[in-house]
Amino acid sequence: MNEINSLTPRQTVEKLDQYIIGQDDAKRSVAIALRNRWRRQQVPPPLREEIAPKNIIMIGPTGVGKTEIARRLAHLAESPFLKVEASKFTEVGYVGRDVESMIRDLLQLAINMVAKEEENGVTGTAEQAAEERLLDLLLPPVPTHKPSGSVSHGDGKVISLAYNDVFGSDAASIDSHESAGQTREKFRKMLHSGELDERMVELAVSSAHPQGPMVEVFSSSGMEDMQSSLKDAFSKMFPGEKQTRKVPVPEALEILKKEEAQRLVDTESVTEKAIRRTEQSGIIFLDEIDKIASRGGAGSGSPDVSREGVQRDLLPIVEGSTVTTKYGPVRTDHILFIASGAFHLNKPSDLVPELQGRFPIRVNLHALGEEDFFRILTEPQNALVKQYTALMETEGIALTFAEEAIREMAKIAVEVNRKTEDIGARRLHTVMERVLDELSFDASERDRQPFTVTPEYVRSQLSEISNNEDLSRYIL
Ligand SMILES: Nc1ncnc2c1ncn2[C@@H]1O[C@H](COP(=O)(O)OP(=O)(O)OP(=O)(O)O)[C@@H](O)[C@H]1O
Ligand SMILES: [Mg+2]
Repeated sequence: MNEINSLTPRQTVEKLDQYIIGQDDAKRSVAIALRNRWRRQQVPPPLREEIAPKNIIMIGPTGVGKTEIARRLAHLAESPFLKVEASKFTEVGYVGRDVESMIRDLLQLAINMVAKEEENGVTGTAEQAAEERLLDLLLPPVPTHKPSGSVSHGDGKVISLAYNDVFGSDAASIDSHESAGQTREKFRKMLHSGELDERMVELAVSSAHPQGPMVEVFSSSGMEDMQSSLKDAFSKMFPGEKQTRKVPVPEALEILKKEEAQRLVDTESVTEKAIRRTEQSGIIFLDEIDKIASRGGAGSGSPDVSREGVQRDLLPIVEGSTVTTKYGPVRTDHILFIASGAFHLNKPSDLVPELQGRFPIRVNLHALGEEDFFRILTEPQNALVKQYTALMETEGIALTFAEEAIREMAKIAVEVNRKTEDIGARRLHTVMERVLDELSFDASERDRQPFTVTPEYVRSQLSEISNNEDLSRYIL
């Protein structure tokens, strides 16, 4: 895979259009930011170092697509993508998460991403190897006169169950004069045809140390790297620690496949690739950047010094520096930062000047209206109308929405946003869920008849609630 994404801004915008309605300025800006990174990477060294990264700040109310745009951008650039809340960090030297941890987390994501790709790349080989190992398990190495007893096999990882325990009297049907090879092929056939699916097999499962998500669990301590390296150290100290489990044949096959895939993948090259990908195409989404901008904010009675400290800590990372991780050093020069905030109470100019300079691209996202909502409900590839239609299809119900019904939902969403709190397009989720509440509940028991959502139906499900402000607050 090409580590550096080479989409032109126009191509990027076209792809974003498939998921995000409106917000053309924002799409344009992130597309430019992505391309600028690529351009900077192409400039030869002495000058390249002089060119400051062109990161971006998205400014706009809640639920209008800020996170969604960044997430989609990362996805189509096939970039490791980390979303962090700027307000969660504390200044270096204080208890809490320091800003460098985001680079470590990003790298961990990249490692998981690359490892998965590499494992997918060896699926075929892993499947074959797993099948052989399973056959070894099912068949003692000398099949003729070995009625029972466990057999330690190969590298000792795998203990096969007593022949008769697994196959009971069926074993008798395997004639002893058959060659071992023939028996094996017979079993292979049975395995393929699913005849062995009900069988149990005993398997030594390595209690591999969990990767990735575990990092998050420890993250609040600010010591996550130390903890995970401790875990690593332990798993190296006791490498052979395995648990024996009795599992059905299909599950055993899955476990073995995974083990084989992991064995076939070279950890070192995964790490290397992941570091490269993090450095060259990583994207960090810094949410709530307005909360660390100091002046003029509510609650700024709390020491501004600390917020400013976080901003100062951010500077070297955004400008380009080297962060130490347990997998090795990571350069941050070309990581793309997309900051985002509502900036209700302050402005980007309230950030420390140096940080402002590193986020030269600014873009406003606007509040969404009725027409936007209508389009969001119907047009994106993952539009809610499409989602619910697919969900109902699993129950054998052909769900359709009359156009006017969708307009009605859009209208009600806007109303509720105005009357209670403006949560943007997120309102559509609650409105839709409410409209389909009854159907969702009894879909499984209904006759498989088509169901059309009409405007009257929408009103009957919602009017009482949406007209009552108090009820709306709780339900919609
Ligand atoms: N312009 C849009 N087009 C399509 N879907 C949208 C749009 N805006 C928001 N959504 C949908 O609304 C939900 C919330 O959007 P998103 O997470 O991007 O909000 P946000 O702007 O980041 O808000 P916040 O400031 O609260 O984080 C998502 O499910 C997203 O799919
Ligand atoms: Mg968001």
